[in-house]
Amino acid sequence: MKFSKYLITLTVWIVLNFPTFAQSTKRVAIIPQPSQVIEHPGVFTIDRMTRIQSDQVFAAVASLFAKQAEIRMSGPQQTKDSVKLILFTLVGKDVVADSAGYRLLITPEKITVSARTNAGALNGMQSLLQLILLQPKMGEVPCAEINDHPRFGYRGVMLDVSRNFFPVSYIKHFLDLMSLYKMNKFHWHLTDGPGWRLEIKKYPELTSKTAWRTHHTWKEWWDSPRHYLTEGDPNAYGGYYTQADAREIVAYAKQRGITVIPEIEMPGHSDEVLAVYPNLACSEKPFVSGELCLGNDSTFIFLKNVLTEVMAIFPSEYIHVGGDEAGQAAWKECPKCQKRIKDEKLKNESELQSYAIRRIEQFLTSKKRKLLGWDEILEGGLAPAATVMSWRGEQGGVTAATMGHDVVMTPGGYCYFDHYQADPATQPLAIGGYLTVEHIYSYEPVPAELDAFKAKYILGAQANIWTEYIPTTEHVDYMAYPRLPAMAEVTWSEKGNRNFDDFKTRLQAHYRLLQRLNVNYCRPSFSLEVGTKFDNQAKKVTVSFKSEQYKPVIYYTLDGSEPTNLSTLYKGSFEVSGSAKVAAAIFENGLFKEKPVKLDVDFHKAIGKKVTYHLPYSKNYVAQKEETLVNGYRGGSLTYGDGQWQGFESNDMDVTIDLEKVDNLKSLAVSFMQQTGPGVFMPDFVEVSLSDDGKEFRKVKTINNDIPLTQSTLTLKDFKFSLSGEKGRYIRVFAKNGQHGFLFADEVIIY
Ligand code: ACM
Repeated sequence: MKFSKYLITLTVWIVLNFPTFAQSTKRVAIIPQPSQVIEHPGVFTIDRMTRIQSDQVFAAVASLFAKQAEIRMSGPQQTKDSVKLILFTLVGKDVVADSAGYRLLITPEKITVSARTNAGALNGMQSLLQLILLQPKMGEVPCAEINDHPRFGYRGVMLDVSRNFFPVSYIKHFLDLMSLYKMNKFHWHLTDGPGWRLEIKKYPELTSKTAWRTHHTWKEWWDSPRHYLTEGDPNAYGGYYTQADAREIVAYAKQRGITVIPEIEMPGHSDEVLAVYPNLACSEKPFVSGELCLGNDSTFIFLKNVLTEVMAIFPSEYIHVGGDEAGQAAWKECPKCQKRIKDEKLKNESELQSYAIRRIEQFLTSKKRKLLGWDEILEGGLAPAATVMSWRGEQGGVTAATMGHDVVMTPGGYCYFDHYQADPATQPLAIGGYLTVEHIYSYEPVPAELDAFKAKYILGAQANIWTEYIPTTEHVDYMAYPRLPAMAEVTWSEKGNRNFDDFKTRLQAHYRLLQRLNVNYCRPSFSLEVGTKFDNQAKKVTVSFKSEQYKPVIYYTLDGSEPTNLSTLYKGSFEVSGSAKVAAAIFENGLFKEKPVKLDVDFHKAIGKKVTYHLPYSKNYVAQKEETLVNGYRGGSLTYGDGQWQGFESNDMDVTIDLEKVDNLKSLAVSFMQQTGPGVFMPDFVEVSLSDDGKEFRKVKTINNDIPLTQSTLTLKDFKFSLSGEKGRYIRVFAKNGQHGFLFADEVIIY
């Protein structure tokens, strides 16, 4: 064990330990949660007399463990009675049923890792290593019996090294951590417009030229003419892996139970290829489009030559060929592509792409490999034995599984680790989105549409780390941790064995582990989220607070005043009758850690009433469907994807709310959002009309938007109508979608 390094960490930890924060007391805090854990009293103490012994088949696993935990291997003559053993042993199906499973038995005298296969022994070894690193006092391993096996065989992480290049040393660190969390597929996104990263001996220009770009950050390069420089140019930014580097990574990963799946992008995202081999572009010119010409046989010769070298480096059965986001404009204008469409009797450009993927699949199959591609490969017809990575939501996965194809689930809403993980105002710039640890944890990889038979086609799930906005290795750590452990549990642990509160408790100990391993993880946020639950009958609202902190000290007020440590101490959810102005914060040493969160809890007249849509809401942003606008829950200030904001795509919003009786009215408010990047704009105006019978409406008021269309960052606006003196039963709210982009609306609050 690296006592020299860890002792320092340990000392600091003890100083910090006692006063201010709650600590998890879970003794066995393994992530992902094992299938069965039986805790026993006592500990196995690792000391100078501890030795590792192994059956011959697990010698490599045992020596990896010895290296990681810095415990000496035992020779046969050394196993005296006073020596305490950690034993790696081969067992039969009667002891460990699953081929990737293991049993870990820890008694005060001996630790035994039992498994049937190398993968199983590695999984058991990682659980043991975690147990060592998780304890407040390193070296004291709690006694327990653990029986464990994975739910899914595919537990993936993708790292994009094209948008930014990361050296071999970092890839190894990344793989070490992946294996510690039992993730077993490393999808390596090696090629894309911003840089080709793998040496191909037949095409040296791919790395001597297009592994090097004109600007350091992706954004600067993207906003420039997007050119490349020659290796050695003082201004060149980039890098690549030699074939020897890549082989070293493959071997390193294999030792840790990880398969490296290389991705070579085609036919889109190939700007860098066309920059040095413009003859493969429809225009035969560089920098015109990013798509390979599919009418030109040279394209297929090139791809096969590249893939031949790739297959010689990567023994992985799967070869990922991209297939995503290819534009069709160049193919439409290209006589060679059009001739191909005609000759092959294809219907359109989607079928042309499908033709290309099939042709590549035939080649891979002839070499006994399997094709993996992003879900666009479904369009124009899926290649016969292709496996689909479902990223544009879950539909691609559902369709492919229904057709009897294998699927890896990686939908954007749960698996894109380039999205923000906390309030964007507190975070380094990211591509957008909002993906918390808790939201990842809530993911179920088998789509609800699939029956038990079809569910078998779901091989597992994958986290994707695209690196447009992740320029350094420290930043990759930051985006991956602690979200990757959440994904590890989603893919490893049985659904019924997953519980977020329990995960959060275990995660507390993993912060210590990540500190000990010098991982630059994202620290848990001090932000509070207010949860509300409306009881329509009793006209009561139940309020609760949620935070990434473990058992935080929260004070709150209900009159909107700033809370202090003399305000009410939060002890669990509480009820509010009518309305309240909730303000709350997490406190440490008498002061709040972050500005108090404020929320008006409204038990307004429209809650639970019927809403009629005269124009539809967007199929992609249904939120809570017909209940959204009057369910009492207000869309939050972080993202339109929080399940409360309802989208209106291209069309206006036009709804009528039925209050069930003619009533005296005081006010109406409705919120909209603007975020111009994804095309979300404020309405030009919002108009309120009233009616007693639902037929004859009279316009009461219109409010024009005053947020400029140029305001790009996420902005909320409440359109507030005073309705004093007005009466009505039916209330029609109309919002003009002048930009024909998205409107996002929430909660029509009526008093
Ligand atoms: C992707 O995110 N373009 C697969």
